[in-house]
Formats: sequence, structure tokens, C-alpha cells
Amino acid sequence: MFSELEIVAVFTSLLIFFSGSGTAQFLENICGERRDGLSRDAVGPWTAILHHSGRIVCVGTLIHERFILTDVHCGGSNGAIRARLGEYGRIGSELAEDHVVAAFFRNTNFNPETQANNIGLMKLLRTVIYKEHIIPVCILLDSRMQTFADKLDYFNGTTWKNSDKSPMLSSKTVVRMPQACGKLDKGQFCAGHKDLDSCDEPSGAPLTREIDYILPNRTVLFGIANSVEANCSNSRSYTDVVQLHQWISTVIYSSSTNDGMEEPYNTTHLPELFCRTKLKSTSFATNSKK
Ligand SMILES: *[C@@H]1O[C@H](CO)[C@@H](O)[C@H](O)[C@H]1NC(C)=O
Ligand SMILES: *[C@@H]1O[C@H](CO)[C@@H](O)[C@H](O)[C@H]1NC(C)=O
Ligand SMILES: *[C@@H]1O[C@H](CO)[C@@H](O)[C@H](O)[C@H]1NC(C)=O
Ligand SMILES: *[C@@H]1O[C@H](CO)[C@@H](O)[C@H](O)[C@H]1NC(C)=O
Repeated sequence: MFSELEIVAVFTSLLIFFSGSGTAQFLENICGERRDGLSRDAVGPWTAILHHSGRIVCVGTLIHERFILTDVHCGGSNGAIRARLGEYGRIGSELAEDHVVAAFFRNTNFNPETQANNIGLMKLLRTVIYKEHIIPVCILLDSRMQTFADKLDYFNGTTWKNSDKSPMLSSKTVVRMPQACGKLDKGQFCAGHKDLDSCDEPSGAPLTREIDYILPNRTVLFGIANSVEANCSNSRSYTDVVQLHQWISTVIYSSSTNDGMEEPYNTTHLPELFCRTKLKSTSFATNSKK
């Protein structure tokens, strides 16, 4: 059955299809646009909450009509994971959607010690129909943009906000901190903020920046928050998404997207989202007690 999470290994040593093609290009043409008038700390319409019957496991980012990008660990938990899209930034009669995850592709070069190549792709059972509150973020497919990306010194990160009601994600400025994470492996960079507790930032969460490329003001994904092991500090390591763009396009373009369209996605009676205490600092756990 499709509802079971299936782990599929993809070797990055597969043919690299799009190396050095050199044309200015995003993975999806419709991407990185957010509606006007939302508050400055609203998270983007690409934010995906990965949950198991409402219990939040991780955060991911919609990058394609069938794929969500996240941390390697996020696909590893047992049971049927659902991807909640459009949870935030809805207006009027707009609805959130729960999508069934049909497969998980982990980068087989992932190194658990250094967290290098910490990147995974979830394939959804059904094609996502884009709406104003559900749109993918842009993924750069041009290696020449690496130098540009390496010079960016601040981004939008994604953190939990204290709330008495259901858990809320909000957007927060994160700055590049080249020295703060110690020695990093290839394909990683370090960022944080003096007011930020890395434990408030869920694993797999997007690090984005609005840039002018192809069109003005497109939000592009630059980093994926790596998991932190019980050591909350002001900084953490992120997977460098621009460096791993060939892995992303290889997985997506070598996977059929004409399959599994039957099952409708869930828009009604969605389970209420909640956090494991481990996901969030104690202050949140206390506040959220009813
Ligand atoms: C961060 O997100 C806000 C909207 O939530 C946006 O107004 C702002 O331009 C973004 N900043 C960057 C650096 O992308
Ligand atoms: C892009 O963003 C800037 C700053 O937020 C704004 O002044 C400008 O009007 C935007 N351009 C377009 C085409 O939306
Ligand atoms: C935890 O953080 C402290 C202070 O930043 C650091 O000295 C220590 O090495 C860290 N431990 C681990 C396991 O990362
Ligand atoms: C939709 O959500 C409801 C409530 O959680 C659940 O009972 C039902 O099985 C879900 N349907 C699908 C197709 O996932």
C-alpha cells in the first residue's frame, strides 16, 4: 500500500543530468511568490508540516508538485507520514491539505557523524494543485549561483512561536556565522542568531532568502536545518541546497510523476497538530498545556 513509507535509496553517483547546463533556471517556474499583506513573520506558502496523526515529526519545504525537501532523519520514522500544506497564511475559505507520502529518497552519501549530505526528498502520492497559500519555493539549478549564495549573509529561518493554541511556525532572521559551528563538512554552512535557540527551529526547516533572479522578489531555498542533538545553542549547521541541486534534480527527473493520482488529498477533518515535547523547548510545552 502507498500509505506505508517506503525507503528508496538513490545513489548520487547516478548520471548527473544537468551539470553545467548553465542556463538561468529554477526547478519549477511557478515558485517563491507569496501573497501581499501577510505579517512579516508569516512563514511562506511552501512550508510543509510532516506529521503522524497530528504529532509533528519534522518540517519540510514544497519544491515541486510531487516533492517535499527535508532532513534525512525525517523520512525514517515508522508509520504513515502526512504532509500538511497550507496550514498557515490562509484567508477566507482556503483549506489546509494533508498529503500522503508515497516514497522517501534519502541521499545515500549522508554522513551521520558530520551530517554532510543531510537531505531527503518525499514523494507525494498526489500532485499538488498550486494555490495562493500552497506554492513551492524556488530551487536554483545553476552551479554558477554558488558564489552568489556563499556571499549571502542573512536569511529567513523558521522557528516555533509560543502559542497557547496549536503550534505556530514563524519566520525569523538568521545570519551566517562562519565560525560558530566548528568544523563543517562539504555542503554545509553555519548560521544562527544571538536571540535564537536552535532547538526552537525544527529539523528540516527551510532557510530562505528573497532574491531577484529571473523575476524580482522570488524566495529561494538556500538551507535545510540539520537536526540538533540536545545541545541548543545560537547557531546550527544547514545543508547547502545550492551545492546539492544536482542530487535534487536527478531524483525528481528520474522518478515518474504519472503514477498514483487516484487517492484524493485530505482537506476535511484534519487532525489537530501537536508537538512532542522534545521538539520544542520547555517553555512551549508548559504554555501549550490546557
Ligand atoms: C523574510 O520573510 C518576510 C515575510 O515573511 C519577507 O517580507 C522578507 O522580505 C523576507 N526576508 C528575506 C531576507 O528573504
Ligand atoms: C520587491 O520587493 C521590494 C522590497 O520589498 C519592493 O519595494 C518592490 O516593489 C518589489 N517588487 C515587485 C515587482 O514586487
Ligand atoms: C554543546 O555546546 C557547548 C557550548 O557551546 C560545546 O562546548 C559542546 O562541545 C557542545 N556539545 C556537543 C555534543 O555538541
Ligand atoms: C482524512 O483525515 C481523517 C481525520 O484524521 C482520517 O480519518 C481519514 O482517514 C483521512 N483520509 C485520508 C485519505 O487520509
